[in-house]
Amino acid sequence: MSRVHNFSAGPAALPEEVLQQIRDDIPDWNHTGMSVMEVSHRSKGFVELAARAESNARDLLKIPDDYHVLFLQGGATLQFAMSVLNLSAADDTVDYVITGTWGKKAAKEAARFCNVNIAADAADSSYSNIPDETTWQKTANAAYLHYTPNETIGGVEFHFVPQTEDIPLVADMSSNILSRPIDVSQFGVIYAGAQKNMGPAGITLLIVRNDLVDRGRADTPTLLTYKAFAESASMINTPPTFAWYVTGLVFEYLQRQGGLAAMEEINERKSKKLYAAIDNSGFYSNPVSLDCRSRMNVPFTLGNAELDGKFLAEANDARLTNLKGHRSVGGMRASIYNATGEDAVDALILFMQDFEQRNG
Ligand SMILES: Cc1ncc(COP(=O)(O)O)c(C=O)c1O
Repeated sequence: MSRVHNFSAGPAALPEEVLQQIRDDIPDWNHTGMSVMEVSHRSKGFVELAARAESNARDLLKIPDDYHVLFLQGGATLQFAMSVLNLSAADDTVDYVITGTWGKKAAKEAARFCNVNIAADAADSSYSNIPDETTWQKTANAAYLHYTPNETIGGVEFHFVPQTEDIPLVADMSSNILSRPIDVSQFGVIYAGAQKNMGPAGITLLIVRNDLVDRGRADTPTLLTYKAFAESASMINTPPTFAWYVTGLVFEYLQRQGGLAAMEEINERKSKKLYAAIDNSGFYSNPVSLDCRSRMNVPFTLGNAELDGKFLAEANDARLTNLKGHRSVGGMRASIYNATGEDAVDALILFMQDFEQRNG
């Protein structure tokens, strides 16, 4: 296999072991004489696959028994609407903490359906820090508080869980789920699109505390209700079977690596050495405050933006791909999810040092 070092923000790299297993399984999955894409989602084999994926997600994330684990479609973006439709009434107020692009989009969608209070917004730091939690303007009786634990574009990550007492905490964990252990019991709802750190595009993981499943608005379409997914083991209609299968393989892969504590150790090492390479250079820089730098998405700029194109072209030649920053912010971004190994980060650092020597 001739593989590149892939720093894509998503859809992102998948573990090679998983890709090989997919290749081996394709012609004859589970002794059926068919690929997993060709079997009924109601067949015994697929129902078992789905149950195994749920049980492995529970095992990896240590999900308590009073939470549902659901597999949905529509990406994280659909969850921007589903959170509000399932957890609030039209005259409720919901709190949003905005630390970047995705939180802003989530709040904008929620504002279509009820009153949104922006409890905190890091706009005045150009989304390079997290406003001190003691300054957040929370609503006493908010239906929930929503935040984005890792902002994929700006590279801003919470290294703490906000405290909301009995107000349900809703978290868009699309870009840092499975990167480290979390205490699920502190959250009302966690959602994450799979295509960054969990699997291919097309499936979304939703973890929801049992008592929050039945708060939906009466006129919410069935397919947008937590309840219908909870009551049907996420099989109201035909689910994205292939994406579900691959996501299940990724869960098994992570278990073989030693689970999320082991991934955290590796992710911590990878991100520390990349930030050190940036900070110790006189050429690269990262604008994010030290206490909230992302372990998953590392944006950086070059001392001279006119060299961006050259940097990207030479990186590509060195088989270091997808390093271009998001179109809204420019510069570079290295996304270093679980499947982008330490060898990839080492190769990137060597390349960056060499590029600086030649151009800095
Ligand atoms: C934190 C975060 N939330 C939401 C989204 C949107 O996800 P989707 O494309 O699955 O709707 C993204 C996509 O990059 C993201 O990074």
